[in-house]
Amino acid sequence: MKRFPEEFLLGAATAAHQVEGNNTNSDTWAQEQMPHGAYKEPSGDAVDHYHRYEEDILLLKQAGLNAYRFSVEWARIEPEEGVFDRAETEHYRRVIRFCREQGIEPVITLHHFTSPVWLIRKGGWEADTTPDDFARYASYIAGEYGDDLRYICTINEANMGIEIYTVASQIFQQMVAVGKVQVGVNMEDLMRGGPEIAAENLAAFGTDHPAVFVSARTPHGDEIIMKAHSAARAAIREAAPHIKVGWTLSLQDVQSVPGGEKRAAKEWEEEFGHYLPVMQEDDFLGVQNYSRTVIGPDGPMPNPEGAELTQMDYEYYPEGLEHVLRRAAEDFHGDLIVTENGIATADDGRRVAFMDRATQGVRACMDDGIPVRGYFYWSLLDNYEWQKGYGMTFGLIAVDRTTQKRMPKASLSALGQLRKD
Ligand code: BGC
Repeated sequence: MKRFPEEFLLGAATAAHQVEGNNTNSDTWAQEQMPHGAYKEPSGDAVDHYHRYEEDILLLKQAGLNAYRFSVEWARIEPEEGVFDRAETEHYRRVIRFCREQGIEPVITLHHFTSPVWLIRKGGWEADTTPDDFARYASYIAGEYGDDLRYICTINEANMGIEIYTVASQIFQQMVAVGKVQVGVNMEDLMRGGPEIAAENLAAFGTDHPAVFVSARTPHGDEIIMKAHSAARAAIREAAPHIKVGWTLSLQDVQSVPGGEKRAAKEWEEEFGHYLPVMQEDDFLGVQNYSRTVIGPDGPMPNPEGAELTQMDYEYYPEGLEHVLRRAAEDFHGDLIVTENGIATADDGRRVAFMDRATQGVRACMDDGIPVRGYFYWSLLDNYEWQKGYGMTFGLIAVDRTTQKRMPKASLSALGQLRKD
């Protein structure tokens, strides 16, 4: 197998809330504590990456990887509206500098699902004030760390809320076959509602319907996301014009069987097409793919008979990545970076096979001139898979959460081999 070129970003990704532990000023932390909430278990200390980031980055480096994608946590940096926390700012400066010292390219994400509680109290991801709040935070980050950064992802999976909205409406319409959301969301629990959870939300956020990022987003909320991204992009460019800016999208490989073509085209339009105008000025698009969805005349079809499933109950389908890269490149003409691709499995051999097939697809795209600049496996560590808790093992490194001991899997060095001679 051909190696990736020297400058290609080959690494792994994490998100602050899923690995750091004790993200206590965030909306997700508040929701995890709710007795009637949708979270299977609270995140607690997570895998203590907040204190062990050096060890984790060194493992990534020793395996031969040259890039690390992680998120800086808005709820830590701006725990109260307009108040920036110096100690937390220094924490992330140390993480970024440590990457640089080790020759690892830090690719940071400003927002990876979690938000400060104060933002949600103001109306969250449906509020007209959010784009300005987000831009102020983006400007602060670019001003503080700009000299050490070359890439910023503004928002992780900007289309997540619309995906949830679509699946939620399918559930509401009592459709037999419902689509899938590419993340650990307990859809039924999320939809069930009830007076208890309404009261718990009211106490935490001042509203029984908090517009957190991982919830069904209205078309107005979708506009807010686009405005927030554009405003943040402008703020970053003003503070640090050399930084390449983009957002990431959750892109399922949308396929159709006869009779499903129209619905499939509509789904791709919702997931990707209608964002093109706002993305035109971006330097790159972060592509995140985990599986495929096949649409028939009545909507999304169940997984094929006998298909291998991952722990997340998606079909094992590493070919999806190549398909979405090719499709995205038809209409988006900036660089593409695979900001997430991965598999939750207890069988590390299947992970290695998945990454091999997925990265062969990346190579094939590059051979055809598609500007794919990086591949980040999700995830560096086994971590907190949101509402599904700690049971899903996506990581290249296992963690014993009683001792926080790291145990690199064979897949970590297998991924690094793709760069080594
Ligand atoms: C999210 C991650 C998540 C992963 C696996 C992505 O949609 O960005 O936070 O853990 O999927 O479900």
